[in-house]
Amino acid sequence: MKSIYFIIGLLAFLGACNGPSTENKPSEETVTMETMKEKDIHSYSNPSQVVVKHLDWVAEVNFDSTSIEATAILTIDNLEATENLVLDINGLSIASVVLDGKEAATFTLGEHNEIFGQSLTIPINPETKLVSIKYTTDPNAQALQWLNPSQTAGKEQPFLFTQSQSILARSWIPLQDSPGVRFTYNAKVQVPSNLLAVMSASNPQQKNNTGLYEFEMKQPIPSYLMALSVGDIVFREIGERSGVYAEPSVVDKAAYEFEDLESMIAAAEALYGPYAWDRYDIIVLPPSFPFGGMENPRLTFATPTILAGDKSLVSLVAHELAHSWSGNLVTNATWNDFWLNEGFTVYFEHRIMESVYGRDYSEMLASLALQDLKSEIHEMEENGQSEDTKLKLNLEGRSSDDGMTAIAYDKGYMFLRYLEEQVGRERFDVFLKNYFTSNAFSVMDTETFLTILDKDLFESNGIERPAALYEEWVYGVGLPEGSPEPTSNRFEEVEKQLGKWQEKALLSDLEVDAWTTHEWLHFLRSLPENLTLEQMAALDAAFGFTNSGNSEITMAWMLHVIANGYTPGYEKLETFLIETGRRKFLTPLYKAMLEKEDGKTMANAIYSKARPNYHFVATNTMDALLNYTSK
Ligand code: BES
Ligand code: ZN
Repeated sequence: MKSIYFIIGLLAFLGACNGPSTENKPSEETVTMETMKEKDIHSYSNPSQVVVKHLDWVAEVNFDSTSIEATAILTIDNLEATENLVLDINGLSIASVVLDGKEAATFTLGEHNEIFGQSLTIPINPETKLVSIKYTTDPNAQALQWLNPSQTAGKEQPFLFTQSQSILARSWIPLQDSPGVRFTYNAKVQVPSNLLAVMSASNPQQKNNTGLYEFEMKQPIPSYLMALSVGDIVFREIGERSGVYAEPSVVDKAAYEFEDLESMIAAAEALYGPYAWDRYDIIVLPPSFPFGGMENPRLTFATPTILAGDKSLVSLVAHELAHSWSGNLVTNATWNDFWLNEGFTVYFEHRIMESVYGRDYSEMLASLALQDLKSEIHEMEENGQSEDTKLKLNLEGRSSDDGMTAIAYDKGYMFLRYLEEQVGRERFDVFLKNYFTSNAFSVMDTETFLTILDKDLFESNGIERPAALYEEWVYGVGLPEGSPEPTSNRFEEVEKQLGKWQEKALLSDLEVDAWTTHEWLHFLRSLPENLTLEQMAALDAAFGFTNSGNSEITMAWMLHVIANGYTPGYEKLETFLIETGRRKFLTPLYKAMLEKEDGKTMANAIYSKARPNYHFVATNTMDALLNYTSK
């Protein structure tokens, strides 16, 4: 496979020398599909030769067969008069391919690879404009999760949602499944008439009695942002251009939780310029959604585990909203540049939170991020994965999912915060706003970003760049010396109270009344690893951790429950793991069980009950962790 990529890469490079300009008036340094330096190692497609510009998707969602029957009509631009269009697919049954609405085409399928799926090669002419592919998805399509009514809040209707990032779009739509390729789309989707369908596009706000819904995404997006949800979904308005979708029994709680959404949008726009996607809505999905949130444009997909009842977990919304700039507007060219999506987004998330809730709030987030980062670097070093602690990744031959670590998120954040601290916030803000404006609707790779940084942050401000800056932060392992140190008075206070307890004060004497979720998280994370059962019981009696309705607190407490064999917490642990499919919670909890002597039996017993509730993204990780085989 390597040599093929080399040749394709070479062709791409040669193509770059006389590549045509694109519509979006990129600035000099902008990477376009035609000038991209690096081949996307996670896609079989050939976008430097022929590129998909638009998708018309006509689909029928069938809950009985748990499959989608669809036709994808691709409008292509054959840049190099090439003879083949190569698409990515994974598990699709292709019924037919037709060129320009008339000519049936033969097609060939490449060898199937477990991670990448397979190529679909379609012979085309230099004049071919439209390629229609009729196909059916597999019941086990990796992006799709089909839920029984019992797995929903309402328990009466089935539910379907997709998760396309990073390379799962190919399991439900044949596309050039690479973040460097942007296209617009229209869709017509038929669903059972009592259900509503929503997509990462213009959306209906009400069910109709035909079950046929039409969508339009007029801004070009990469394939990993293709998204669809179908279920008993209703809509509530939040502000002028924002609202929330959820099942009827969840929607009011969600509307309350996201009450500050309009202030967040305003804060974000003040930082990086106008919101480019018209509306910003959120859909709260059933609890098996494998992520906290997914930044599908116009419609963030979110886990219900952020509905804490007190708005304390809404930084996740700030995060997904921030992706409307970092990621959706300026997109990582390949998954090796993933930190450009996530590191910027964490930085931006903290800035939004600072501006809406104050610096002492955002410094708590930053301190927690630094803790996560340090422990992940430590773990990666122990496991011989130091190479993956570099911001610029090399995921050759590996799943793009391997890059989803605290490095991209929190080391990326720390790098940007470091830059801010070096040049001052005012200059950094000017730089960032300009960066998003001039690279809107483009792809960005790490090297191009560093060139822009050199020119527009350092040179233009007459500041000399520290010589080893990029070697240390971007191409170096671990956390560089002199990295930023968030300071949180509120956390210092938590440490003081904890100290009192360790010096034998009663738990009832600790001053905790004013604490918010984040202070409790810091408290739980700072507790000694080994606690006696008496101490566990006393903590639980004083603060009610086992019965907490806050998912982050539950998760932090359950790590102690597992580590100390605190049996009164086991029932809650099991229910939590069966109901929640959010991978960020599952991984540490199952790992913690494996570290205990008899923990493997416990982990397997819970997993066998919980697994049917999890999305592929979660089972894929947990199967490997627990050596689970279905055969
Ligand atoms: N885009 C990511 C989720 C993602 C990344 C899915 C890579 C698949 C592959 C999303 O924006 C995200 O980062 N979600 C986080 C939330 C966050 C506040 C850090 C999550 O789901 O935990
Ligand atoms: Zn993100």
